Amino acid sequence: MDAASPAPTSLVRALRGEAVHPAPVWFMRQAGRYLPEYRELRRQAKSFLDFCYSPDLAVEATLQPMRRYAFDASIIFSDILVLPHALGQEVWFVEGEGPRLTPLADPALLSFAGFDAHLAPVYEAIRRLRAALPAEKAVLGFVGAPWTLATYMIAGRGGHEQWAARTFASKDPETFAALIDILVEACTRHLVAQIEAGADAVQIFDSWASALDETGFVRWSVDPIARIVAGVRAAKPGVPVIGFPRGAGFGYRAFVEGTKVDGVSLDWTVPMDAARELQARACVQGNLDPARLIHGGAPMLSAVDHICLGLRDGPFIFNLGHGISLETPPERVTEVIDRVKEMTA
Ligand code: CP3
Repeated sequence: MDAASPAPTSLVRALRGEAVHPAPVWFMRQAGRYLPEYRELRRQAKSFLDFCYSPDLAVEATLQPMRRYAFDASIIFSDILVLPHALGQEVWFVEGEGPRLTPLADPALLSFAGFDAHLAPVYEAIRRLRAALPAEKAVLGFVGAPWTLATYMIAGRGGHEQWAARTFASKDPETFAALIDILVEACTRHLVAQIEAGADAVQIFDSWASALDETGFVRWSVDPIARIVAGVRAAKPGVPVIGFPRGAGFGYRAFVEGTKVDGVSLDWTVPMDAARELQARACVQGNLDPARLIHGGAPMLSAVDHICLGLRDGPFIFNLGHGISLETPPERVTEVIDRVKEMTA
């Protein structure tokens, strides 16, 4: 290591294959509506996307959970749908419902012309965040995976079992592949730029991997993510990449082997035996059921213990199996982090 670069964070050490004690901890969606200070801050922007594109607000939202809790990593406050937006598709959020997009009929309508300028506020927020946090706290950048982005871009919204994208991909696989190719390039560029701005590691969210059959999973989830991982690694060697093929079930192993990610984020349905098998191939991250944080108590703590006991002797990052729910009492997060630190000391 050269003298100017700081020691790697605990998160990065785990992703490089080390069993770190105590284990690093962060939560997906650790910034957001379950925190009263977030709800207050959110009122300052007229829309959710304006909020994402205001570096002041995005940095403040990212820092809120870092002030309240002993998290080891922060994930930049943004959204996966800023990417289709940067490619020229219309995107907006309906309060209380979720994202809406003008459904994409033809990928040729997308354009990289305004891409970098559109995403500049995200990079500015990462630069400020990296400067504001102590060196031992990791900063994570992220993207949605091509398949998950395509499901929103084609349906124009979140939908039932990603039906619109699944039917499109089997009706016209060439056009669908053209869309995926554009998204591979967009994701790679966005991740590399986030790393240049100061991200220590990055995560790729394939939130709807669960919807694909075996060949679809390989073609639309594993292969595109493998290309993104290779592209990021070529541009930024040594910066770890985490993949999250949510709900991939029996496909998790093919995902780790096919994509060559440094870390794999596990949803809460992945059993311990399978998690340990994956840990022989990559750092594992997860996988507490976010539902266990609502009522807390012994059912929550025993689930935390089970995960820590099973995974603490290898490369491991404690996280939830998906984003924290907005019903979560904020004090529950402290209880979980304290227990993880005790169990993995
Ligand atoms: O703290 C963090 O994790 C960082 C911020 C973050 C957000 N979205 C903020 C957000 C991250 C990493 C995401 C990723 C994201 N966005 C995913 C992948 C992860 C996952 O949950 O599977 C997906 C599928 C999206 C798309 C998206 N954004 C949806 C479907 C919704 C509506 C549902 C909801 O929870 O409201 C959003 C909105 C959104 N993204 C909010 C936040 C804090 C809530 C909006 C608000 O505060 O008004």
